[in-house]
Amino acid sequence: MISLNIEKTLGFISKENVFAYEAQVKAAQEALENGTGKGNDFLGWLHLPSSITKEHLADLKATAQVLRENCEAVVVAGIGGSYLGARAVIEALSNSFAWLQDKKSGPVILYAGHNIGEDYLYELTEYLKDKKFGVINISKSGTTTETALAFRLLKKQCEDQRGKEMAKKVIVAVTDAKKGAARVTADNEGYKSFIIPDNVGGRFSVLTPVGLLPIAVAGFDIEKLVAGAAAMEKACGKDVPFAENPAAIYAATRNELYKNGKKIEILVNFNPKLHYVSEWWKQLYGESEGKENKGIFPASVDFSTDLHSMGQWIQEGERTIYETVISVEKTQYSLQVPSDKANLDGLNFLAGKHVDEVNKMAELGTQLAHVDGGVPNMRIVIPALNEESLGGLLYFFEKACGISGYLLGVNPFNQPGVEAYKKNMFALLNKPGYEEESKAIQARL
Ligand code: PA5
Repeated sequence: MISLNIEKTLGFISKENVFAYEAQVKAAQEALENGTGKGNDFLGWLHLPSSITKEHLADLKATAQVLRENCEAVVVAGIGGSYLGARAVIEALSNSFAWLQDKKSGPVILYAGHNIGEDYLYELTEYLKDKKFGVINISKSGTTTETALAFRLLKKQCEDQRGKEMAKKVIVAVTDAKKGAARVTADNEGYKSFIIPDNVGGRFSVLTPVGLLPIAVAGFDIEKLVAGAAAMEKACGKDVPFAENPAAIYAATRNELYKNGKKIEILVNFNPKLHYVSEWWKQLYGESEGKENKGIFPASVDFSTDLHSMGQWIQEGERTIYETVISVEKTQYSLQVPSDKANLDGLNFLAGKHVDEVNKMAELGTQLAHVDGGVPNMRIVIPALNEESLGGLLYFFEKACGISGYLLGVNPFNQPGVEAYKKNMFALLNKPGYEEESKAIQARL
């Protein structure tokens, strides 16, 4: 189970003020439970972990097995909420060098549809040229340009290389039950498909087939992931007292910090495998809270790497930031620092120590230095990088985000702002139906 420690924020804000949120948090929890708050048509994620059935997981695992047996590579096509959750879990659980190993235990997982880079897509299609590959096409709307464009390329290549019949077997769609081009294509072509529930928004969808299918294809245990999330659903439940509810404390603390001028939250890890968990978290909080001209700006760093780049700013830059550190208690493997006769690097004082002992001292030293430099610090400890812990961590952040958005007074479940660039892009590309916008935008250039 994860734990949250806010002690190192308390020189900057008072415990009293954090606990003063108790009634507001209770109201936010009730609004979530009773569906009486803003965005209440998007609350399907709230009890998702405890309501996923064994049959649904078995269906996902069976489909994953078909892809694992028939593919050397599987491309996950999706963007934003239709991609980041899967990548966060897969990268956190994978061997960092798996894709370079000759003997692979399953298909290589690749990503597309999350950018419009011509070179990226060219290089991907080149890499796939001699590979038996499959595609998971993930799009709730079924019309997202980045994903649709990548899927158009990949579908053709898969059919050309593997034949229509095999393509049918190794292309899977995860999309809306009824509407959108991805649904129509899946039905017309006879692809296996999974449904993204109407009441689950993209950034809250990691525990739907959006995240679960790619994670299962990558060979990870989705039952354990869901079990970890279900345990956290209980631990953050509405009847858990405020002081014992990590989601409540996290939401209250960050809102109190924000009120006290801390406008930027930096999510920190000391484990490179957590990089994409931070990417997922940034979308979750950025899209949920950044509206009505308010909201904490979610940023992230990978330490100790970024201590050698961003460390200076964090230590001595403008004091509008606070940090939330995700600390992993136990490593998966063991590696000790060897002794060296010549000791030219002067590191013999570390000989015999585990690398993680050095890392943990970097973590503690950084925390103290940053607190001394005026940066409040919260710490989330997860027992290990495994499915249970990650499931718990993801749900914890989701629940806290729902509460936190309500504390801030915004609708945490919509994202009206992401349409603005799309409208301009379509106008610039003369998309049919955008004639007026095209004229208007051309006049501005
Ligand atoms: O959270 C969101 O709503 C977005 O990030 C979407 O997930 C993203 O734009 C992809 O949308 P879609 O799944 O409709 O292709």
